[in-house]
Amino acid sequence: MFSEPSTLTVPDLPNQARFVVSEGRSDWFAPDIALYRCDFELAHFDDLLFEQLGIACPPSVRRSVAKRRAEYLAGRYCASMALRALGRCAVQIAIGPNRAPLWPHSIVGSLSHCDGSAVAAVSANPKYRGIGIDIENHVTDATIENLERLVLCGSERALLPRVPDERRAWFTLIFSLKESFFKAAFATVGRYFDFDAVTVRSVDLASGRICFETNYGLADSLPARTCLQGAFRLLPDERVVTSVALTR
Ligand SMILES: CC(C)(COP(=O)(O)OP(=O)(O)OC[C@H]1O[C@@H](n2cnc3c(N)ncnc32)[C@H](O)[C@@H]1OP(=O)(O)O)[C@@H](O)C(=O)NCCC(=O)NCCS
Repeated sequence: MFSEPSTLTVPDLPNQARFVVSEGRSDWFAPDIALYRCDFELAHFDDLLFEQLGIACPPSVRRSVAKRRAEYLAGRYCASMALRALGRCAVQIAIGPNRAPLWPHSIVGSLSHCDGSAVAAVSANPKYRGIGIDIENHVTDATIENLERLVLCGSERALLPRVPDERRAWFTLIFSLKESFFKAAFATVGRYFDFDAVTVRSVDLASGRICFETNYGLADSLPARTCLQGAFRLLPDERVVTSVALTR
């Protein structure tokens, strides 16, 4: 089911090439949403890369551990490349209130990072009021045990396969889809909301589509029982990418 890595290329700047080991654009989510992903090597992270890549490092990130600085850099790098793919100049994407990234005027977008990978999705199409993207490594069995009650409702638990590998993949998928939805809906909802806000109804492995619905009203434009769709890709190295776009 996975096609994305074939679009990844090795970058040409020498320092960046040691950090960003592969990268590429794809539009599997929607033709009017530019998606950019990179894989990076934490061991080759260097603070000088912020300057070389033209990415500002805010004080809160500068004070954090190298892993956080590397993930922040990789996320903003993907965001700037995704903006370029739309024909926009790369601009600084600051950290806004409630940690939401501040996109340029008339752009909606989202970004995500996990160990060694980052991804960003942006669109200039005014039909979208929010986009969410999330990349996750498959969770462990212990994580499923700890988070199952928080993340899944009864009918979602029934969707999980019994085979352990598949179970980890499906749990990660549903968890990630909900995080993508949170990011896509945050500007509309205007507050934090929990995993019980939506229920995944079906997962179509062949098309990479997930149908889900809101369990209660989150905003006037997101009443209870709103049917929504997300998309996903299962990456070969036990990671998943999910995305949700909310239209007006
Ligand atoms: C905010 C949250 C979704 C981020 O997910 P994560 O797996 O921790 O981290 P990711 O790397 O995937 O995403 C981090 C990025 O999300 C973005 N983000 C953070 N808060 C955000 C918000 N309120 N709205 C939109 N995007 C947000 C930021 O760009 C951040 O990257 P940055 O800090 O480098 O700028 C997660 O921490 C969280 O709070 N989840 C609980 C809420 C939730 O998912 N509810 C389920 C509703 S059904």
